[in-house]
Amino acid sequence: MRAETMSEGLLFKKAGKEDLPRISEFRKGFFEVHEAGRSCEPEYYEWKCYRNVFGEGGVWLAEEGNSVVGVKSLTPKPMKVLGAMVNAAETGDNFVHPDYRRHGIFSRLFRAHLDGVDPQWSLIYTLPSKIPLQAYERKLDCPQIPVSLCSMVKPVRSKQLLKRKLRFSFVAAIVSPLVDIASRAMFRIGTRGMARSTVDVRPEEGFPDDVDALWEEASVNYDVILVRSKKYLEWRYIANPDAYTILIARSKSGATSGYMVTKVHASNDLTWGYICDFLTLESDPNVFRKLLAAAVESFYQKGCAVVLAYVVRGSFYYRTLLRAGFLPRARHPIVCYRNELGKLVLKGGHKWHFTMADSDHI
Ligand SMILES: CC(C)(COP(=O)(O)OP(=O)(O)OC[C@H]1O[C@@H](n2cnc3c(N)ncnc32)[C@H](O)[C@@H]1OP(=O)(O)O)[C@@H](O)C(=O)NCCC(=O)NCCS
Repeated sequence: MRAETMSEGLLFKKAGKEDLPRISEFRKGFFEVHEAGRSCEPEYYEWKCYRNVFGEGGVWLAEEGNSVVGVKSLTPKPMKVLGAMVNAAETGDNFVHPDYRRHGIFSRLFRAHLDGVDPQWSLIYTLPSKIPLQAYERKLDCPQIPVSLCSMVKPVRSKQLLKRKLRFSFVAAIVSPLVDIASRAMFRIGTRGMARSTVDVRPEEGFPDDVDALWEEASVNYDVILVRSKKYLEWRYIANPDAYTILIARSKSGATSGYMVTKVHASNDLTWGYICDFLTLESDPNVFRKLLAAAVESFYQKGCAVVLAYVVRGSFYYRTLLRAGFLPRARHPIVCYRNELGKLVLKGGHKWHFTMADSDHI
């Protein structure tokens, strides 16, 4: 493993835990806070890379003298691809100091973390924004995977949205209760069938033991899916320094039949409700509907203006969200490094399950 390389006065290296405060300061000093409220504190990076129960990832950094000028992270995330468990990892946290851009630092950091891990990861993926996407595709041999992941939004409370549009905020205060009543009626989640369902949905502190049985049964449905075992879920949502709400659906017998993870965050005068993650059996569509109904109701009670979810277009979850008044918003490309398994995934034609929390967007 190459620990450090020097180039044109810049040192490229894998960060030690002692570097995390400097990385956090660099992140906070030059870039906007994360819009979904994700932590940028040292303990976040420590959790993500060094307290990861699926292996050690890391943050790679470029420095000049004692100053950090670029960072990039690699986070191990177990995946099941065509029935086989693989050690996948997400690459992310792409930040280069404004004065040092277009000098290949981001590209060097990507190559450094490809070389700098042992054993090598079978699949390296990411959901890049516009500029890194160009770099991944043109320079780093990371083409787009032919899977259509999209974000979907549902307006919940109109006051904050109307305030942005209308000149006088008192008009928003008067009009919004009426708009909210109308939109609740219009976007009612289909309750036919749900009324007969005996599934019970509640917020819980953790994930029940039999979530593993749910994962085993549900995962058979998909060609590509991040492993949603109890071990993964506890690391992802409970050990995480950021706070999430866990909704568990149980059948009459008490068995876990689905879960949903949510988060609320206010950003730029808008309170967002995030549907971070979910898994249910498609054979009982009422489970997902009930989880969704409970989440949306809770977002409404918490004053959220908009709810956001990521989902694979055309999937069972996508269709349910459409019926529940969610509107497609944007497509999110997923790229992967063209190694052996990457080539197979890039061929496409696979059935995916992918949610917002499978990326580091939340
Ligand atoms: C995205 C970012 C990390 C790229 O870092 P960088 O060190 O400048 O990238 P590189 O020099 O390695 O660029 C590699 C390729 O990416 C593409 N690229 C990079 N910046 C670009 C820009 N501003 N416009 C168009 N293409 C760009 C080019 O193809 C470039 O190759 P070229 O310079 O030979 O044409 C940097 O612009 C940044 O920190 N942006 C702000 C933070 C951010 O938005 N991060 C992404 C979200 S996590």
